[in-house]
Amino acid sequence: MLNTRGSHDCFSPDQGCPVSAAPLVVVTGGARGIGRVLAENWIANGARVALADLDEDQARATAAELGSDVAFGVGCDVGDDASVQAAMEQVAAWGGGIDCLVNNAGLHLMAWSRPPTEIDSAGWMSILSVNVVGLVRCARSARPWLTRSENASIINISSVSGIVPRDVYGVSKLAVRGLTTALAAELAVDGIRVNCLAPGPMDTESAMADLPSSLLEEFIANKQLIQRQGRTGDLVGPALFLASEASAFMTGETLVIGGGFPLRM
Ligand SMILES: NC(=O)c1ccc[n+]([C@@H]2O[C@H](COP(=O)([O-])OP(=O)(O)OC[C@H]3O[C@@H](n4cnc5c(N)ncnc54)[C@H](O)[C@@H]3O)[C@@H](O)[C@H]2O)c1
Repeated sequence: MLNTRGSHDCFSPDQGCPVSAAPLVVVTGGARGIGRVLAENWIANGARVALADLDEDQARATAAELGSDVAFGVGCDVGDDASVQAAMEQVAAWGGGIDCLVNNAGLHLMAWSRPPTEIDSAGWMSILSVNVVGLVRCARSARPWLTRSENASIINISSVSGIVPRDVYGVSKLAVRGLTTALAAELAVDGIRVNCLAPGPMDTESAMADLPSSLLEEFIANKQLIQRQGRTGDLVGPALFLASEASAFMTGETLVIGGGFPLRM
């Protein structure tokens, strides 16, 4: 349960803002996949959501499906400063503030799961710009509104690949965990908590279409303790928890949602 109330000052219907003071959660990459499932469940738990996605049409379509009174879709390229700033301003104008930022958008397909020297410098810059600097852009642009919330938090989406990285994608996701501690340290002064989820392989459409089934089966059989594939729904409880006052004394932490992989002390 998202037992938080935002501290908004813009809830007049004639300003286009909802009349309720339900917390506002902005989910980058929220048009589909993990971001969409998290958004649906935040709404089910009393929040409003903004879906900020590179695919503007799908962000708007998903928001319409979720309900235009509780969901807002906006185009946003987390790889671009101006796009992020414009998106956060539109989100705050619609919702009257921002209580939680979910840094979920990321490049994650097998093309990025390559050894470091097999991706050229331009490729490295692309993935780092989206998967790492993108989170900084969003945090920087959302900060003024998060600062005004009574229970502000940021949730970064890393991956089990970022625990002990073996490839380019993993390195970017390790950096997400590093950013989680660095942003937690920086933003504590504004009362903004910053935590992280590191999922194992999940059953999103894009991942299922991309990951060879033999690789997935071998991963589950040989690495996970829980012998099934991760489901996007497995992330819902941890995400709601990290945004809620139930985790009010937690910041800078990463929760691994990987069916027992990797075991660590
Ligand atoms: N699916 C998995 O198995 C898995 C496992 C661990 C971590 N993750 C992480 O979870 C996140 C979401 O994964 P998913 O499977 O739901 O992905 P997905 O491909 O289903 O959806 C990603 C969304 O992000 C959007 N997006 C891509 N680049 C963007 C950009 N520059 N700016 C804004 N939006 C952008 C896409 O348009 C898309 O709607 C990613 O960060 C991924 O690394 C996924």
